Amino acid sequence: MKKILVTGGCGYIGSHTIVDLIQHGYDVISADNNSRSSIDILDGVEKITGQKIKNYQVDLCVFDDTHAIFQENPDIIGIIHFAAYKAVGESVENPLLYFDNNINSLLNILKCCAEFAVPYFVFSSSCTVYGNPDESQVTEETPIKQAESPYGYTKQMGEQIVQQTVNSNHIQSILLRYFNPVGAHPSIEIGELPIGRPANLVPAITQTAIGKLPQMQVFGNDYPTRDGSCVRDYIHVTDIAHAHTLALDYLIAEKNSENCEVFNLGTGNGYTVLEAIHTFEKVSHQKLNYVISARRSGDITGIFANNTKAKDQLGWIPKFSLEDMMHTAWEWEKKLAK
Ligand code: WQD
Repeated sequence: MKKILVTGGCGYIGSHTIVDLIQHGYDVISADNNSRSSIDILDGVEKITGQKIKNYQVDLCVFDDTHAIFQENPDIIGIIHFAAYKAVGESVENPLLYFDNNINSLLNILKCCAEFAVPYFVFSSSCTVYGNPDESQVTEETPIKQAESPYGYTKQMGEQIVQQTVNSNHIQSILLRYFNPVGAHPSIEIGELPIGRPANLVPAITQTAIGKLPQMQVFGNDYPTRDGSCVRDYIHVTDIAHAHTLALDYLIAEKNSENCEVFNLGTGNGYTVLEAIHTFEKVSHQKLNYVISARRSGDITGIFANNTKAKDQLGWIPKFSLEDMMHTAWEWEKKLAK
């Protein structure tokens, strides 16, 4: 069996990726200290796949504990590294927490990857590495600019650390730059579990619609866009998950021409915040209680993907529409409320 270690496997994208890996014949173990996730999400993974996933509840910043996972599983052939803190606002308030956690966990994983000669490594990156691009539509060759937050810096640094490390360690790697992952698995057995007040748009929408939040804010409608609100490339989490399976298939089939390749994972369509809200209202038949408020510091006007490279080289075709994203997100929110 092709055994894959998924770090952050109890997280939003990690759990959806475990489902896809299993459905495509991989054997999976998870490492997640559940500091920002719930082990219960693996019950949902089991309901979908019929497989119980072993999770090593380990702080990956502790080398010896990370090393022990590899000693116990010498048959790991690939790693997908999701485990990291990802709240932009929190990273601004507490940069050292982000640099410490996100970089040290990556370093420990890469040290073990090298020591145990694990051949394949997939790194969870983000469109945030582009900073505020001159052109809203970005390709993988779009120049990397100043990160907008310490979180963004940890993704930029993470990419560099991976690129520099794999050269000297015969590791074949892929960096996947997600745009805005949203929605829930179509089975509605797993989905996003934001901790505390949601920073991201779609959980804020669904929590407002279900009544967990009294009202939500649209952070600015005075941007130079179609309707004044920011443009983003929302992508269904299940489409994101499948891209990881395709990335491993691609590396195992030795289709890569360099030992570190980068792929944008977005639909290629940009939607404004207000368009996203109106789509939610149409799909849910709910009128959303929102107000237009001041811009949020650190927000960029617009960014969306040129996803040609992932389509051509990985054979990746995003399947879910914005309506599907809003529908599954809403069904998941209603299930959480039960
Ligand atoms: C999207 C748009 C907000 C909430 C960040 C990271 C990215 C990824 C996703 C981790 C913006 C607007 C939001 C609200 C609003 N990180 N908004 N009211 O900032 O594009 O991306 O989160 O997974 O790497 O950079 O995502 O969902 O926070 O915001 O108006 O209550 O929605 O201003 O224009 P963002 P987001």
